[in-house]
Amino acid sequence: MSHADDHQGTRRDFLYYATAGAGVVVTGAAVWPLVNQMNPSADVLALASIRVDVSAVDPGTQITVLWQGKPVFIRARTEEEIAEARAVDVSDLPDPNHENANLPAGGPATDENRALTEDGIWLVQMGVCTHLGCVPLGDAGDFGGWFCPCHGSHYDTSGRIRRGPAPRNLPVPVASFVDETTIQLG
Ligand code: FES
Repeated sequence: MSHADDHQGTRRDFLYYATAGAGVVVTGAAVWPLVNQMNPSADVLALASIRVDVSAVDPGTQITVLWQGKPVFIRARTEEEIAEARAVDVSDLPDPNHENANLPAGGPATDENRALTEDGIWLVQMGVCTHLGCVPLGDAGDFGGWFCPCHGSHYDTSGRIRRGPAPRNLPVPVASFVDETTIQLG
């Protein structure tokens, strides 16, 4: 192999690792080891949308996927988590807006306006604290949802900010089920 071939191979590897942007990552930590699930021949530069297999996500657990360079939490909620989220009076919330990109802007932050599915089981949201961008921890905090340890923001089981410096609920990205076990982001 010539030196030129060598060089090209090295560069190709570099591009592969640098642009493969989607994968399932571990829950909730501020550092996310990536498990690459993308076909490297796909147009990973665009990644306007990705599809995520959620068949292994049991109630009470979540996965974190990387989409457009940011973590997205996909959670299957328990009956208790849903009931807790739906019992909240929206007028008590620091951010009364649903922050859901799938709905017209400005509606109330009811859990019904944030959950992906009518039964309330699936909740998809950006895993980025609306304070300064840390990744909140799941199953944590005083409201049973997410907790951002950077400066102490508590989110409830609907991902709504309840206490701490974060100004907004965790944003809900454009998402939909494309079949029974697959969620498309974007
Ligand atoms: S970045 Fe989350 S509380 Fe500051």
